[in-house]
Amino acid sequence: MLWVKALHIIFMVTWFAGLFYLPRLFVYHAQSDDRASIERFKVMERKLYYGIMAPGAVLTIVFGLWLWLGYGFSGGWLHAKLALVAVLVGYHLWCGKLLADFKHDRNAKGHVWFRWFNEFPVLILFAVVILVVVKPF
Ligand code: HEM
Repeated sequence: MLWVKALHIIFMVTWFAGLFYLPRLFVYHAQSDDRASIERFKVMERKLYYGIMAPGAVLTIVFGLWLWLGYGFSGGWLHAKLALVAVLVGYHLWCGKLLADFKHDRNAKGHVWFRWFNEFPVLILFAVVILVVVKPF
């Protein structure tokens, strides 16, 4: 089980690297008006989303489900954690929609909006890690 948990945590870190960095790229992309920068951001965002964030998300969930269903974990903390993970998956998919908007030069949101958007995963990370380590209920 410890190998499964180790891989679960490793891919969770990978996923969060993307969840923290992609919206930051959106902040700078939204502030850019020269073509060279805009095209560079498009390449960085696409590689980050499909090359790091998506595999990180899928493997975090695969090893998490393996821990849950394979080793019989249960409790209120796990239900609350799964609800927050569902919200995180929604945020991940929203990033995919924003990625497509930028790809087609149809983003209408400003950099301030993305700065606030960028903070949301921090709240989820605090809540999920406290739930799974402290198991308050
Ligand atoms: C469907 C998604 C997920 C499921 C089913 C799941 C399930 C689990 C289970 C059953 C454990 C073992 C708990 C224990 O050993 O006490 C665990 C450990 C852990 N999970 Fe998840 N998890 C999921 C997603 C996540 C996400 C998104 C994060 C990060 C935000 C996360 C962070 C952790 C951490 C840090 C541990 C290690 C806790 C410890 O060793 O005390 N998990 N997970």
